Amino acid sequence: MRLSAFVSFAVAFVSVVANNETGVPVGTPVPGDYTGPLRPQVHFSPPQHFMNDPNGCFFDGVDTWHLYYQYNPTAITGGNQHWGHAISKDLYHWVNEPIAIFPPDDNTQVYSGSAVIDVDNTSGFFPNQKNGVVAIYTLNSPGKEVQAISYSTDGGYTFTAYEGNPLIDINNPDFRDPKVIWYNDHWVMAVAYAQANTIAFYTSPDLKAWTHASNFTNPGLIAGQSTECPNMIEVPVDGTNQKKYLLTISRGGGFPNGGSGIQYFVGDFDGQAFTTNDDRTRWIEIGKDSYAGQFFWNVPDSVQGGVWIGWASNLPYSGGLPTAQENWRSSMTAPRRTFLKTASDPALFDLVLDLYDPSPVLGKDLDAKTVTGDVSAYSVDFSSVAANAVYLEANITGIGAAQNASFQYTLASATSGESVLASYAFSGAFEIDRANTKGWTDGGYVAPIRTEGLADPGDSWTFTALFDRSMLEVFLNGGLHAGTANVYPSEPLTQVSVATSGLPADAQVSLRVREVLSGWNPPPGESGGSGTCKRDAAPRWTPKSKRVVS
Ligand SMILES: *[C@@H]1O[C@H](CO)[C@@H](O)[C@H](O)[C@H]1NC(C)=O
Ligand SMILES: *[C@@H]1O[C@H](CO)[C@@H](O)[C@H](O)[C@H]1NC(C)=O
Ligand SMILES: *[C@@H]1O[C@H](CO)[C@@H](O)[C@H](O)[C@H]1NC(C)=O
Ligand SMILES: *[C@@H]1O[C@H](CO)[C@@H](O)[C@H](O)[C@H]1NC(C)=O
Ligand SMILES: *[C@@H]1O[C@H](CO)[C@@H](O)[C@H](O)[C@H]1NC(C)=O
Repeated sequence: MRLSAFVSFAVAFVSVVANNETGVPVGTPVPGDYTGPLRPQVHFSPPQHFMNDPNGCFFDGVDTWHLYYQYNPTAITGGNQHWGHAISKDLYHWVNEPIAIFPPDDNTQVYSGSAVIDVDNTSGFFPNQKNGVVAIYTLNSPGKEVQAISYSTDGGYTFTAYEGNPLIDINNPDFRDPKVIWYNDHWVMAVAYAQANTIAFYTSPDLKAWTHASNFTNPGLIAGQSTECPNMIEVPVDGTNQKKYLLTISRGGGFPNGGSGIQYFVGDFDGQAFTTNDDRTRWIEIGKDSYAGQFFWNVPDSVQGGVWIGWASNLPYSGGLPTAQENWRSSMTAPRRTFLKTASDPALFDLVLDLYDPSPVLGKDLDAKTVTGDVSAYSVDFSSVAANAVYLEANITGIGAAQNASFQYTLASATSGESVLASYAFSGAFEIDRANTKGWTDGGYVAPIRTEGLADPGDSWTFTALFDRSMLEVFLNGGLHAGTANVYPSEPLTQVSVATSGLPADAQVSLRVREVLSGWNPPPGESGGSGTCKRDAAPRWTPKSKRVVS
């Protein structure tokens, strides 16, 4: 795996680098070219080679979000897994950092996991500081998966493996993806028995000694699929003083539109066990390209909810994405703000996964208008936007009982005739159609993505879409339904259109289309920008390192 054709390419790019594995830079960021036509400009994607799950997500308590990720620095497909690392002030402008966690030996890979700030030195690793970071992850070796930790005294930039690893070894080859949170007076780990449809909870006083506390399984967990990347957080219920625990579980297959997806359950946690009266099969997204999502640790209270990010891909086809032509594979989703809403069935709660504040990357209005009645032939050309990225909001009021109404959002290329369509029928059906793009022909990719039975929104409804070269994210009804879709045109999509039909004559549709500013390639004239990627060489801000958690 390591001796792939891409190794020599990687080496050629790396100048002053101390390597301890062929082609893997130590202590310096992997360089990246973020100019390719498929490269997202406000989503995180790896500088080169293959990325999958987000790992170790945390906010430092001052000004910096840390994102680690499953990273193969030596090939364009998965394998040889390390923890790559990037930081951001706003979750849209990213700076690549050196690889953070390396495999301990040639037979072992560093798989997914999480990170916490050990403010109270429970681990004993941090005698003189309050910002020590502990990463908790799976070590995968032939025939066995065990849980291990590494600690960082410099705020999460460099890590030392704990000499007592592994911490949990139950002689199981499918036991992975620990996500750790703090509960009152102890640490809690959710970890997957990947082939047993079961999540285990372990507890610990010090992040080192772990005790099995409970198992969670549920009739709503579809059978016969791998179980990965459990995540549990406490989130507010909108409009109430209530908080509930949300447990998300990634599934290697069985998603209704094919391939992988993420299920969720809402319930209670007593420090030892998660319980719920919800045994329905519910998925967090109506899009197909969202897996292994993770909640950030230590999110500021002002956010009022969790902050989540996912791997924007689908397992069966993730190794084939055409972005390999630009020598990288896979992007993360945009950041999402997560909270719960009381559902029409009072025993249940609905998940909201809305776009996290995009204002740092939104530029000028390209158009804004309000239409009375149906919208027809509304189209905005965004070919002048350097990032080839566009943001659209549509708010509809006065829908009444227009069950036959429908809404269509289209992205199109003026030159190639390609298009992508996202359509919503107010009877409760949503569809994304990527079949009219020519950049990829994979069967799972061109198949329609269709969800039925979405709840009636009532008299008003909102639609928000963030399009970013090869990424489309849509948010319906205030984020109650979120959909992520990779989009692979052969020519840039440069026109965005909206049309409706069947709305009452007095319905109001307010539309706003805004340019999106690149987080990777600032335009000429903007500070630090030159039209090409300067991020790795000269980030436009310097993180306040060695900071204290407030
Ligand atoms: C490679 O270097 C990193 C960073 O110094 C270290 O953590 C890791 O253990 C090393 N790996 C090997 C195989 O020597
Ligand atoms: C942190 O833990 C170490 C090891 O237990 C201990 O030596 C040190 O005094 C602790 N420091 C603080 C400030 O608690
Ligand atoms: C928890 O589930 C795992 C996987 O099915 C099983 O091996 C283990 O015995 C269970 N533990 C308990 C205490 O039930
Ligand atoms: C909805 O469409 C159906 C089938 O086209 C039609 O029979 C019905 O009258 C329509 N309802 C309204 C309220 O327009
Ligand atoms: C749509 O509604 C949201 C939420 O009320 C508001 O923030 C936004 O400005 C509205 N956009 C348009 C185009 O009306």
